[in-house]
Amino acid sequence: MELYRFLQQQGFGSRKECRKLLEYGLVEINGEINDNWRADVSAADIRTLVVDDEPWQVLHGPVYMMLNKQADTETSHKPLHHPSVYSRLPPQFTNLGVSAVGRLDADTTGLLLLTTDGQFIHALTSPKKQVPKCYRVTLKHPASDALLQQLSSGVLLRDEDEALAVDAVERIETHTIDMTISQGRYHQVKRMVAAAGNRVNALHRIAIGPLPLADLAPGQWRFLTPTELASLGFSG
Ligand code: URA
Repeated sequence: MELYRFLQQQGFGSRKECRKLLEYGLVEINGEINDNWRADVSAADIRTLVVDDEPWQVLHGPVYMMLNKQADTETSHKPLHHPSVYSRLPPQFTNLGVSAVGRLDADTTGLLLLTTDGQFIHALTSPKKQVPKCYRVTLKHPASDALLQQLSSGVLLRDEDEALAVDAVERIETHTIDMTISQGRYHQVKRMVAAAGNRVNALHRIAIGPLPLADLAPGQWRFLTPTELASLGFSG
């Protein structure tokens, strides 16, 4: 494959932009500058890639990553009021079409998965699959037994035909519960808690299915490991 095409496949922009990067001598492959945009390369032979002084881990297929979403960021490519979660990632990923697996509210923090794999998004967000998501919920009022009871037995939300119940709920501290839901309705946690007579002050997603949020600072991301991907029923 021609070198500029390879750079394009790695997310470094349009054909023209990739050719320019090469012509300006900004691309170092296996320790050597290569300014020949027509050079024939094979991704498998590229051990190190540095573009414009930034090392880049060569991608060999779809991308799967987790982000510890910060508060006041929007899960949208066209945010209205806050920075986009995508602005936390190197722009190459946006060029490659990375999308979030479902949405979190602007004020919700925690585990957000991002990928270029549409099937992965479908598998984790389709209502039919019912993948459980666990949230740490900070409440305005103490977590009473009645609240836990109501969330477990089901609450009726506006515009819903049937009551929605949690998969699991556990009191962590007086004002904190862990709540697992599988349905993924709009503002579901906040609406369920409100319907049960309390109020969400802060919401943090701590797991999706068997996958916990890794030890990442707010705003940090990393690729999923093959083991994590396998735990979600996928391979890289
Ligand atoms: N439930 C909510 O209310 N908000 C979220 O961001 C996620 C689940």
